[in-house]
Amino acid sequence: MNKKEIKDLYKKKIKLIDKFNKSYYNDSNPLVPDRDYDQLKKEILSLEDEYKFLASRKSPSKIVGHKPSKNFKKVQHRVPMLSLSNAFSEEDLNNFEKRILNYLSEDKDFKISYSAEPKIDGISASLIYKNGVLEKGLSRGDGKEGEDITDNLKTIKDIPKLIKSKNFPNEIDIRGEVFIQNSDFENIKEKFANPRNAASGSLRQKNPEDTKKIPLKFIAYTFGFEKGLKVDNQSDYLNQLSNWGFKTNPLNKLIIGIKNLIKNYNDVEKKRANLDFDIDGIVYKINDFKLQKRLGNVANAPRWAIAHKFSSNKGISKVLEIDIQIGRTGALTPVAKINPINIGGVLVSNATLHNEDEIKRKDIRVGDTVIVERAGDVIPHILSVDINKRPDKSIKFIFPNNCPSCGSKTIKEFNKVTKKIDAVRRCSSEGYYCDKISIEKLKHFVSKEAFNIDGLGKKIVEGFWDLKLIKFPQDIFTLDYNKIEKLEGWGKLSVQNLKYSINQKKTISLERFIFSLGIRYIGLENAKILSKHFISFSNFQKLSISNKFDDLLNIDGIGETQVSSIKSFFANEINIKVLNGLGSLLNIKNASVKKNNGLLKGQSFLVTGKLNGISRAEVKSLIEENSGNTVSSVSNKLDFLIIGEKPTKKKIDSAKELKIKIIDHAEFLKMLNKTS
Ligand code: IVH
Repeated sequence: MNKKEIKDLYKKKIKLIDKFNKSYYNDSNPLVPDRDYDQLKKEILSLEDEYKFLASRKSPSKIVGHKPSKNFKKVQHRVPMLSLSNAFSEEDLNNFEKRILNYLSEDKDFKISYSAEPKIDGISASLIYKNGVLEKGLSRGDGKEGEDITDNLKTIKDIPKLIKSKNFPNEIDIRGEVFIQNSDFENIKEKFANPRNAASGSLRQKNPEDTKKIPLKFIAYTFGFEKGLKVDNQSDYLNQLSNWGFKTNPLNKLIIGIKNLIKNYNDVEKKRANLDFDIDGIVYKINDFKLQKRLGNVANAPRWAIAHKFSSNKGISKVLEIDIQIGRTGALTPVAKINPINIGGVLVSNATLHNEDEIKRKDIRVGDTVIVERAGDVIPHILSVDINKRPDKSIKFIFPNNCPSCGSKTIKEFNKVTKKIDAVRRCSSEGYYCDKISIEKLKHFVSKEAFNIDGLGKKIVEGFWDLKLIKFPQDIFTLDYNKIEKLEGWGKLSVQNLKYSINQKKTISLERFIFSLGIRYIGLENAKILSKHFISFSNFQKLSISNKFDDLLNIDGIGETQVSSIKSFFANEINIKVLNGLGSLLNIKNASVKKNNGLLKGQSFLVTGKLNGISRAEVKSLIEENSGNTVSSVSNKLDFLIIGEKPTKKKIDSAKELKIKIIDHAEFLKMLNKTS
């Protein structure tokens, strides 16, 4: 072989290992068995050894390399590690504050103090201290369960291993961000794409000695489980953190009023380029812990905090093609394939066009020169078209009247709530009759918040679908592993791993199960509500026989839209087959009723009129926390009607007729041993 041939061979191998790495680490999708991977690695290293002119930053000799998460023990977080919802504008912030005031039932003069904390773009970690000793350190994982990366975290100098302060709680999970400073990243930038990857990669090293080589930092900002923490607001907590020896962000501020948040945001954004760490926005947290507690969480993010992301990046490109993607609910989403451009460090080659109306409004056509915007983590979109650069023969884009996948007619539905025709056009076929919808349903089924099957990513689902290995969700649990083992890219080991992770997920909570079915309008939050209502899978399944859909309207949080969607789900015989199939293969755990011995045990409530100082949503959580339940109309299922200001007369009349106890706010609080 001459020099060029050797170089080519080397490049080919590097390209291959890079592909394997990406698939393994980014998509949890091993393309080859471990021993084939190791063989390739060995070949690259020995080539490098023999021919000193060979080098690549993607070589296994350079990459410290992520270590597969399988190597770390999984540990449940005692308090989940939540994520944050995002705000991009002043309007978003105003809405955020309005929602809070609404929930707390306060008027707009109520002053809220916020702890404003620059949001470092690193990797979050939870440090478990017992009697001042760092016992364990976990990664965030899926928020509920993290990986035990104690030894690696212990190599970080900023993390105290022993805290002797008198007022340090007996037990506390200190949470914060692990990151790498930009100046330190300079020295190792050959090995990683960006500082965040560097932090994440080195935290996952199997050998802590490898972690030690990377200068990681830690900044603390919140806590999880605690026993003995004596602070009642976030800014005091941040002060305590530094007294205990943790680093906190020097740019943290305590601020009142949205206008002042914006001012601070602009100030910090100006400083951003000169900071020695990457930040991607500012986190605002309501300072008062009492208010935080009252506000609680929605799905997996707190109501009392929001991340205000820094402004987007823009770029100019050309529309090469307009593709129509079909989603799990049949929605047709137009996507512009654009000339790839780098926007803020990310290569963008697709931009969403949202829906038919958006294309019409902006008159976006194939061949157009467009401004593309990428804001935060959301999918890039097209801001505007440069009409002057439009080619002469350009034609308007015509939205398909038939589903590009199954040929069914596409329709725009009438939305009963908004009383408007939807902007979204949908495939009118019923779920599994359309191939594209089926594939999307399957992807949803295995997704993180649903069955979350390790090693069964979207790409594999597509591959298995093409090979007719799966058509319906239940097929996942009766896969023909012998067949898979013979497929290219699979080996004994990877099939064994897949089998193991699928079998592990055969036990699932009712809530996740309902969510995974992908019923339209039944997201995480509604699935949770439904699971609490049905308690068991068999009760849920019985809906198909009892047809008691109208009863569901009594569940607080479930409206007509959801009920009619559940109804059409059960009206489809394929869905029933899926349900029965899954029911016989899985162990679906009953929903646990949180506290079933609370003060309001077995009692049902309904509020009419406005209660002072407490919103409907909060009353509802209060009742549920104390094992009561809420209903949405007066019937003989109701035990107490709580009346506030300006109640509905009809509700009171019906309650009297049915001899239901009528109480006021104070009496209700008395039932909870509380006073107003
Ligand atoms: S508080 C309960 N505070 O943002 C709220 N998070 O999207 C969640 N982050 O995973 C955590 N700086 O990695 C909080 N000052 C800060 C933060 C911060 C960065 C990250 C953290 C979390 C993500 C939430």
